[in-house]
Amino acid sequence: MVYHPLEDSFLLQKWVAKFSKGKRVLDMGTGSGIQAITAFEAGAEKVIGADLDSKSVIKAGKNANARNARIEFRQSNLFSNIRSDEKFDLIIFNPPYLPYDENLPGDIDLSGGEVGNELSIEFLKQARDYLENGGFILLISSSISNPFEIFSNAESLGYVYEILEDTTLNMETLYCVKFELSE
Ligand SMILES: C[S@@+](CC[C@H](N)C(=O)[O-])C[C@H]1O[C@@H](n2cnc3c(N)ncnc32)[C@H](O)[C@@H]1O
Repeated sequence: MVYHPLEDSFLLQKWVAKFSKGKRVLDMGTGSGIQAITAFEAGAEKVIGADLDSKSVIKAGKNANARNARIEFRQSNLFSNIRSDEKFDLIIFNPPYLPYDENLPGDIDLSGGEVGNELSIEFLKQARDYLENGGFILLISSSISNPFEIFSNAESLGYVYEILEDTTLNMETLYCVKFELSE
């Protein structure tokens, strides 16, 4: 099942629209393609959308075509299908971040690992090699899956981070966080 955009998507979308102009953008975990299409429409120079899920890749392609957005979509497990010579000014990811629970629906990947933040930490590890000099990352994190563990791992990986915005819905706080490599 393709992820239907929700509050986390809209929180990230706002910042993608703000930051994409003139940039080479990679939208990791593209889902419906909402972030990739927003980046294109905000004037990105080039946009690639990647997703582990082949149905999402197809759906995102259809959604982009319907809006005449020139975006390349690829199936990829994190960066497995991104070449090492491909560099980006902006890499965005609204990851699955729920803690593993056997009752989560099986037809959509909503869990980011046992705690929920493992995939985000692995993403930050791999993303370093794909950032252009001066490039940065926008990542959504949730209070449900210990975001402060993500931030401390990021610092160990050489990133500095800034929480751009947070929003609280019911019992959960969502964070839109910017990461860039320190000099
Ligand atoms: C929360 S949805 C976000 C979808 C969309 N970007 C948005 O903002 O609405 C997370 C997406 O990440 C994808 N995903 C999960 N694990 C992944 C992985 N290892 N590599 C790439 N994409 C992955 C899922 O298939 C899903 O489409």
